[in-house]
Amino acid sequence: MNDTFLRACRGEDVEYTPVWIMRQAGRYLPEYQKVRAGVDFLTLCKTPELAAEVTLQPVDILGVDAAILFSDILIPLEAMGMKLRFHENKGPVLGNPVRGAGDVERLRVPEPLESVPFVLETIRILRKALSGKVPLIGFAGAPFTLATYMIEGGGSKNFINTKALMYREPEVFHSLMRKITDTTIAYLSSQIEAGAHAVQVFDSWAGALAPDDYAVNSLPYVKETVKALRPFGVPVIYFVNNCGGLLEQARASGADVIGIDWRVDIGEAVKRLGGKVSVQGNLDPCALFSSVDVLRLKVEDILKKGRTARGHVFNLGHGILPQTRPDMARALVDIVHELSRN
Ligand code: CP3
Repeated sequence: MNDTFLRACRGEDVEYTPVWIMRQAGRYLPEYQKVRAGVDFLTLCKTPELAAEVTLQPVDILGVDAAILFSDILIPLEAMGMKLRFHENKGPVLGNPVRGAGDVERLRVPEPLESVPFVLETIRILRKALSGKVPLIGFAGAPFTLATYMIEGGGSKNFINTKALMYREPEVFHSLMRKITDTTIAYLSSQIEAGAHAVQVFDSWAGALAPDDYAVNSLPYVKETVKALRPFGVPVIYFVNNCGGLLEQARASGADVIGIDWRVDIGEAVKRLGGKVSVQGNLDPCALFSSVDVLRLKVEDILKKGRTARGHVFNLGHGILPQTRPDMARALVDIVHELSRN
């Protein structure tokens, strides 16, 4: 197996810098659109043969160094008792938002084998299909990021309901975080047991928090999650979107790799993270709308600065955008490999 990605996560020697792309299986690929034309998004997530098929597409088409399970961070919330729907072009809606103590009490901490067997089956199919190719990344949302969807009832700009609950009824907020964290630990453990070689925890909205609020309302639950996964011995990646004000704290998460967005210089991020973690990132997803020449220069700069870290996994600073041309994504993978070879 090409284990370059796993070695970079652990800070071991590599022949070149491994690369994968957040949201690498998705709407920018015509091959994905073709599968998706026949089923809605949730059905795709819940049909292991199809979910495995779209997981493999970017591995074959782009030549990335890791596959990431095709699913969504919101899938386990349905098992907790949330009513989840995805509206075409409008994003997710959770129909029964959590706004008080009674709402939290009604939530379950589901058993993964019973509630999300399709996720575990997808992983088993992928482990067979990928043998000899690249490692498989499992994932979950970070507890705070999941809480924002549960409390807001979907996406949000200012997270008013989330922060109001956090400030006005902290004990209710923390009892919700308790249930989400227990769910997430069980969920990620079951993914690893089913065969995931590494896991990524997506804290997509951590950067909406002031540093002192992050310290109390997100980080402790991430730390607990990472610690619970340690016995499995697989690399844990903690992606912190809008991480600029949070890097020194994120290094205390205990994760092997910190994933960073593009708003921070990766060289500075490495310094602020210290020598004990690898770094993942951090090209602006919009750089794929430039030219191959501009892309080369930007990749070169990130690779140079990434070399100062214990290990570097190349990635975008957030998910690839649906409007991206697949040939530019492919060019990115080729350029990273070519320029980083010793
Ligand atoms: O990376 C991959 O290729 C694996 C699959 C994956 C998806 N979502 C598929 C998806 C992963 C890892 C995610 C994570 C996810 N989902 C996050 C964290 C990462 C991030 O972007 O910050 C979040 C916040 C979500 C929630 C979510 N799912 C939103 C807000 C939306 C709608 C908006 C959007 O970007 O499309 C989704 C839908 C979704 N998840 C799609 C895909 C391919 C599009 C669904 C479609 O085919 O119509």
